Amino acid sequence: MNADGRTRLDQIPEWTALAKHREELGDVRLREVFAADPDRGTAYTLRVGDLYIDYSKHLVTDETLRLLRELASATDVFGLRDAMFRGERINTTEDRAVLHTALRAPRDAVIEVDGENVVPGVHEVLDKMAAFADRVRSGEWTGHTGKRIRTVVNVGIGGSDLGPAMAYEALRAYTDRDLTVRFVSNVDGADLHEALRDLDPAETLFIIASKTFTTIETVTNATSARTWLLNALGGEEAAVAQHFVALSTNAEKVADFGIDTANMFEFWDWVGGRYSYDSAIGLSLMIAIGPDRFREMLDGFRLVDEHFRTAPAESNVPLLLGLLGVWYGNFLGAQSHAVLPYSHYLSKFTAYLQQLDMESNGKYVGRDGREVRWQTGPVVWGTPGTNGQHAYYQLIHQGTKLIPADFIGFAEPVAELSEDLKAQHDLLMANFFAQTQALAFGKTPDEVRAEGVPEELVPHKTFKGDHPTTTILARELTPSVLGQLVALYEHKVFVQGAIWDIDSFDQWGVELGKVLARRVEPALTEGAGVPGLDASTQALVATYRELRGR
Ligand code: F6P
Repeated sequence: MNADGRTRLDQIPEWTALAKHREELGDVRLREVFAADPDRGTAYTLRVGDLYIDYSKHLVTDETLRLLRELASATDVFGLRDAMFRGERINTTEDRAVLHTALRAPRDAVIEVDGENVVPGVHEVLDKMAAFADRVRSGEWTGHTGKRIRTVVNVGIGGSDLGPAMAYEALRAYTDRDLTVRFVSNVDGADLHEALRDLDPAETLFIIASKTFTTIETVTNATSARTWLLNALGGEEAAVAQHFVALSTNAEKVADFGIDTANMFEFWDWVGGRYSYDSAIGLSLMIAIGPDRFREMLDGFRLVDEHFRTAPAESNVPLLLGLLGVWYGNFLGAQSHAVLPYSHYLSKFTAYLQQLDMESNGKYVGRDGREVRWQTGPVVWGTPGTNGQHAYYQLIHQGTKLIPADFIGFAEPVAELSEDLKAQHDLLMANFFAQTQALAFGKTPDEVRAEGVPEELVPHKTFKGDHPTTTILARELTPSVLGQLVALYEHKVFVQGAIWDIDSFDQWGVELGKVLARRVEPALTEGAGVPGLDASTQALVATYRELRGR
């Protein structure tokens, strides 16, 4: 029993029914299920917005899907979803509402937190961002010496970096090519050094992005950036106002840092860091692609929000993707999930999803405060597919691990490519289709023999197949499609957290390392003793000091 009297997840009948079904089902052979149902390739598909989702190559039957939906119903996924959309404080360990969906709500929507409609505030900030972005893009906003801004440097980490960095890369083709955006996140001074070494300070705008404005990496890099700027511009403090803006929920800390709060773009504690790039945290992206494109992206988010909120369970794509992950993680023993985009522009997409998914669902304590007895979030990994094919796909095809994977691809190359380069797109997509085919259906020993392969090599050249994949296909990677994709994954993560009965919106697990780093730092710099330092770390610190000649 849970503390609140509910039966624990792994004891409810819907869970045990799935465990029994898994036993009875045995190994699903995709060749067989496709042979038995010639319509499977079209029947096991869904559409949401511009996305076509093929889930036919999964190790599931109609019965599996039915039982998974019953699990969703028994765990009241849609009830929690509605509570989230209503602005209830479903992030219980931080006592906060979870309202990233309000960031893309239309102007006339009413979403209340503690009796106050938050939507007008969202649009006020969006309008302020748009006005600022337009001024920078047009050259009206200049640096301290009157020069036009040519480079924007976003300084932030985690959710204050990965989202805008991913989206800037994804939407490169929509950016103003006369402006460049760089992203600095690592407290390793090399990151800032490499970002700034060829820049003219007079043409550089820093965006300091930090929800809390207390994150040590960001504050340290921001301080160094300010020193770099002031050294170059004659030390005039007034220069800071023209070259630094802040994105934060913490006006007091922003002012303490020396940034005029008139140049601060606000967001709210009901926006989680990893769910924030469509808030003020997206300012660098908005400057790059312009306010209209940014709003198109928000429309894409909203489209999937509405789908998640209203589509019935049978055709609800985030629900389906979440349930498939539960099937593999909890009933087939999968430990990881690969996301493999066949688009160079999505090169940072999986890194972004790592925080979204792993910081949200990497929890071993349930909402009732007790340790869970079931697997929670998977290890999420992957890079653009074609490169992966020549690196780690071997393990997916012939290794010993079950690795469900999402393949994301587009029918059209981006418009600005030359005709020659556009011609390469079919080859890229031929790989995209061939890989999911090979993963699903493999190659039998007989097929290998028929090619004249010597008997001793037959086992090596046999592909067992039955490696499950979801294919997500869209016509083109537009701002709206990017918004749709991100919202799809946001809600998939939500579904899984709801089923696993964990709080997907806190991140206490990253706190300990932060606290210990502060404690260890004086030992490195001053050789100060750290009370309670373990023997291994003690010796490592001593060796570090020795190597640095201290
Ligand atoms: O990694 C922990 C974390 O708190 C993330 O959740 C967050 O996105 C990141 O640090 C940065 O936090 P902030 O935006 O407050 O600087």
